[in-house]
Amino acid sequence: MPFVHQMNPTMVLNLLTALSLLISLSSVIVVAEIPTILDGPFKPVTVPLDQSFRGQAVDLPNSDPRLLAKLEQFDPEQISVSLSFNYDSVWISWITGEFQIGDNIEPLDPNSVASIVQFGEFGKPITEEAEGYSLVYSQLYPFQGLQNYTSGIIHHVRLSGLKPNTLYQYQCGDPNLAAMSGVHYFRTMPVSGPNSYPSRIAIAGDLGLTYNTTSTVNHMAINHPELFLLVGDVSYANLYLTNGTGSSCYSCSFSDTPIHETYQPRWDYWGRYIEPLISSVPIMVIEGNHEIELQAENQTFVSYSSRFAFPSEESGSSSTFYYSFNAGGVHFLMLGAYTSYNKSGDQYRWLERDLASVDREVTPWLVATWHPPWYSTYKAHYREAECMRVEMEDLLYKYGVDLVFNGHVHAYERSNRVYNYTLDPCGPVYITVGDGGNWEKMAITHADEPGNCPEPSTTPDDFMGGFCAFNFTSGPAAGKFCWDRQPDYSAFRESSFGHGILEVKNDTHALWTWHRNQDMYNAAGDQIYIVRQPEKCLVKPQDP
Ligand SMILES: *[C@@H]1O[C@H](CO)[C@@H](O)[C@H](O)[C@H]1NC(C)=O
Ligand SMILES: *[C@@H]1O[C@H](CO)[C@@H](O)[C@H](O)[C@H]1NC(C)=O
Ligand SMILES: *[C@@H]1O[C@H](CO)[C@@H](O)[C@H](O)[C@H]1NC(C)=O
Ligand SMILES: *[C@@H]1O[C@H](CO)[C@@H](O)[C@H](O)[C@H]1NC(C)=O
Ligand SMILES: *[C@@H]1O[C@H](CO)[C@@H](O)[C@H](O)[C@H]1NC(C)=O
Ligand SMILES: *[C@@H]1O[C@H](CO)[C@@H](O)[C@H](O)[C@H]1NC(C)=O
Ligand SMILES: *[C@@H]1O[C@H](CO)[C@@H](O)[C@H](O)[C@H]1NC(C)=O
Ligand SMILES: *[C@@H]1O[C@H](CO)[C@@H](O)[C@H](O)[C@H]1NC(C)=O
Ligand SMILES: [Fe+2]
Repeated sequence: MPFVHQMNPTMVLNLLTALSLLISLSSVIVVAEIPTILDGPFKPVTVPLDQSFRGQAVDLPNSDPRLLAKLEQFDPEQISVSLSFNYDSVWISWITGEFQIGDNIEPLDPNSVASIVQFGEFGKPITEEAEGYSLVYSQLYPFQGLQNYTSGIIHHVRLSGLKPNTLYQYQCGDPNLAAMSGVHYFRTMPVSGPNSYPSRIAIAGDLGLTYNTTSTVNHMAINHPELFLLVGDVSYANLYLTNGTGSSCYSCSFSDTPIHETYQPRWDYWGRYIEPLISSVPIMVIEGNHEIELQAENQTFVSYSSRFAFPSEESGSSSTFYYSFNAGGVHFLMLGAYTSYNKSGDQYRWLERDLASVDREVTPWLVATWHPPWYSTYKAHYREAECMRVEMEDLLYKYGVDLVFNGHVHAYERSNRVYNYTLDPCGPVYITVGDGGNWEKMAITHADEPGNCPEPSTTPDDFMGGFCAFNFTSGPAAGKFCWDRQPDYSAFRESSFGHGILEVKNDTHALWTWHRNQDMYNAAGDQIYIVRQPEKCLVKPQDP
């Protein structure tokens, strides 16, 4: 006999009451309210270090199968997609031919192989073709005993006339050499507008190429981003000597070499490793200090500037160090910390022009990224980029930048809305995601812990220059260089590896979720709605 038939009506009622109680209870537990920044400013939270981390991040060895060339000479490898300024155009990049490293290197002729992309909408025949340009670069060390490097042929091709939010297929290479890649796919960004956003944007920093990096990238890939922002420090090729011997510490190793060396093949390894992700998910990169890579004739950033495609010209910048682009209703500012940022420099003037041309009715969200954070409370790199902050913060504030993403500090931190070190309901939220998993140390100590406040004169970054890190003049830390507890501007901090996903829902709400590598891919280590208040904060800037 079925169970229910044995029960009298009161029993059934009781059962139903119990059931509904259970359901409402579980909905309370499962559908916990996600906080919004309007619930803040939040009391600072520090998540204690998880003692279960078993080991240091360890680089994939040069012999790892994922890093080795698998193709014939002019077959494309290290294929990637990057965005141009708007949805209607993307860049496809790849490399052909072998790099050389050693004594008698002979740069390849970039004209020996064509730069062609054949493409079309998914499900239709491939009918379109675009041609681009190619280059090689060299990393030269005019010192006895150091090995020189010259790259394979790097190709960049811009596709244009694309439809928004549309899946495309493409093959790249040189059809005349029968050296075309397999078929790859990418989706264009949605049209720019207040109700139109990519559904998930992944953001990571300081990736490197360790087993922890692979964990970060796997988690990110399973979260299906439509765009990947990498906020600097990419391959960490500069943790190696030119002979391929590496060390997990940039500043403490090989102090007797005449110049800080790099092992450029690590860049090729990184490009091969990451290809499965970025040959279909567009990647946008901004330079970090590990991209400086000083070489002969004081040249810097040559690998970074050569390997990636940037919408620099398209965004009126003319520099690979800073540019902007739209992803649906989000306008991204990619700023350069390792180039002049002062008010009379080119970058600042470009930024003023760029900001003045943004129409917040079309791209309500303004998101800025650069490498070294202004608002970080870890001891590592504490207040290192103060001169940049002093120079640029007012401009970003005046135009109502909503969100800032940085890397550089190898940990996670989210700020309360802040401006000039003061809590401010119209200041941006600053998020540091330098926790991609590279070979260097994770940041675990905080400048506000006893004995950890750095001597001010030691804090500026040599390459960035200047000294602007003066003691605070107001608030609980007035007269001092560090707070003696977690600063009020810091809402949440945790030392762990991971990545973040930004889901912009509409013109006021964006869900930010930080994912830790030790969790299931979809679990949240930190989650909050970033809320815009344009009616309160967007006072139209005066015309110059
Ligand atoms: C990094 O990966 C190693 C295993 O390769 C693991 O033992 C360690 O806990 C990871 N570290 C972090 C911080 O996730
Ligand atoms: C590397 O290139 C530099 C600059 O051209 C040159 O001075 C040096 O001799 C080269 N080194 C080797 C090992 O070929
Ligand atoms: C590379 O050079 C360093 C420093 O001279 C040396 O200790 C190391 O053994 C060399 N490695 C190789 C693979 O030759
Ligand atoms: C490279 O920079 C150093 C230090 O700034 C300078 O002394 C040297 O003349 C520069 N060399 C070249 C080739 O520009
Ligand atoms: C600002 O940068 C420009 C270009 O790099 C430089 O010429 C100028 O001296 C700098 N000004 C200040 C005040 O640092
Ligand atoms: C920022 O704060 C500093 C120190 O309190 C103060 O001197 C400066 O004038 C402030 N800047 C702005 C633009 O308010
Ligand atoms: C700044 O603060 C530090 C302590 O945080 C102190 O040692 C130093 O003397 C202060 N400097 C000035 C100029 O007040
Ligand atoms: C914007 O999205 C948030 C979060 O999904 C939602 O709560 C809010 O109602 C939306 N606002 C509008 C105007 O649709
Ligand atoms: Fe860095």
